[in-house]
Amino acid sequence: MKSDDTTCSSSSSSSPSVNSLYGSYSDHFPIHFDSIVLNDEVTAKVLRNAQKRMNKSSILPYYDSLLATSEDIGEIAHHEVVLDRMLGHGSFSSVFAIKKIRGRKAHKYDAESLVVKVLRPKLSLKPSLMAACAADIVMEGMLLSTLSHKNIISIKATSPMGICSFANGRHDAYFLVMEKLEETLEDRIQRWQSQKHKTLFHHKLKDHLMLQEQIQVLTQLGDAIQHLHSQRILYRDAKPANIGFDKDGVLKIFDFDVAKILPDSTDPNEMFQLTKRTGSPRYMAPEIAKGEPYNLKADVYSYSLICHEVMTLKKPFGTIASAKHDQAVFYDGVRPEVLKSWPRGFVNLLKRSWSTDVVGRPTMEEAIKILQTEFTIMLTIKTPSRKVFNIRRPKTAPIFVA
Ligand SMILES: Nc1ncnc2c1ncn2[C@@H]1O[C@H](COP(=O)(O)OP(=O)(O)O)[C@@H](O)[C@H]1O
Ligand SMILES: [Mg+2]
Repeated sequence: MKSDDTTCSSSSSSSPSVNSLYGSYSDHFPIHFDSIVLNDEVTAKVLRNAQKRMNKSSILPYYDSLLATSEDIGEIAHHEVVLDRMLGHGSFSSVFAIKKIRGRKAHKYDAESLVVKVLRPKLSLKPSLMAACAADIVMEGMLLSTLSHKNIISIKATSPMGICSFANGRHDAYFLVMEKLEETLEDRIQRWQSQKHKTLFHHKLKDHLMLQEQIQVLTQLGDAIQHLHSQRILYRDAKPANIGFDKDGVLKIFDFDVAKILPDSTDPNEMFQLTKRTGSPRYMAPEIAKGEPYNLKADVYSYSLICHEVMTLKKPFGTIASAKHDQAVFYDGVRPEVLKSWPRGFVNLLKRSWSTDVVGRPTMEEAIKILQTEFTIMLTIKTPSRKVFNIRRPKTAPIFVA
């Protein structure tokens, strides 16, 4: 994939024209069943604003600096993809399974293990929002192609031409091809909840196995965020809906459209004035919500709420009415209740991590180190004794001696 610092033009501007870029669009299989055609004026606006947004971000120099060391990902054209059913959607994009990849490169891909992420058609009604989302999905593709970590979603290909692809006047001009995930952390938490409810009697062995799974999830998530931070990437949208598992159960963080590359700094407490209220309010650090400067530690805040949710299976602030949430959480400092049974070190870590005092908040690296110890303590405390393992063993028949 090439860097997107080139200037591209829409069909309404002088050159190149849509046809010189694509031939006739109708020759190509549209990526989306409801592919929307934007008029020339809207297309020009989308292109212009999207390019401005990309030029303002730090992605272009960052991407170029890593180009030589990044894995070269492929390009797949619209007509080479046959879409299957929709797997899910967020506010601005939809994700589809792939039935088939056609053409010369078909043998390189296992279509059934891949998905396509593309913008939602409704965006075409709002050109300014469409432009912002167009830039964001292209930047997401560029950022993902620089990342390689077992707990971060892997991108396999994109459509050609980056932001310039939107010159064809289609809402679905650009798309990402990524590995397929089987369930999200949100789904898994629900599964754990129903497992708990099904067990009428407190079953120590089952609890212990679930605890092991919960700890594994939090460890893998911590590793993913720590890797991003080592690359100066602030993820900004950590929440169970953006965390998934592949067919082997390996955790993968995905949805990088609001991730931000921060300037280099050796001071973990240096703050940066960045966009206000980015992310999802339930997991958003107070400094982001209030429009104050922030840094990588905003992800540590979100991580601590996810830790609490994974351990208690309860949504953070789930009992606060949404109209009251901002005042309570961002200004009055309301936080989830910690359990008495948790080790003190774990409780202290949560409290420091979700504190409004950013300087006192640990870095992700520090948090991971503390958690390694705390998780070991939790597993030791909760390890069922041999007696517990034996509880359900069938009793051997009594032996009567004549
Ligand atoms: N790689 C994937 N495999 C399977 N489903 C996915 C994948 N990526 C995303 N999804 C589904 O699509 C939804 C929207 O994707 P996401 O990247 O979060 O889009 P948005 O940026 O609009 O939030 C996700 O919540 C999830 O249900
Ligand atoms: Mg999402």
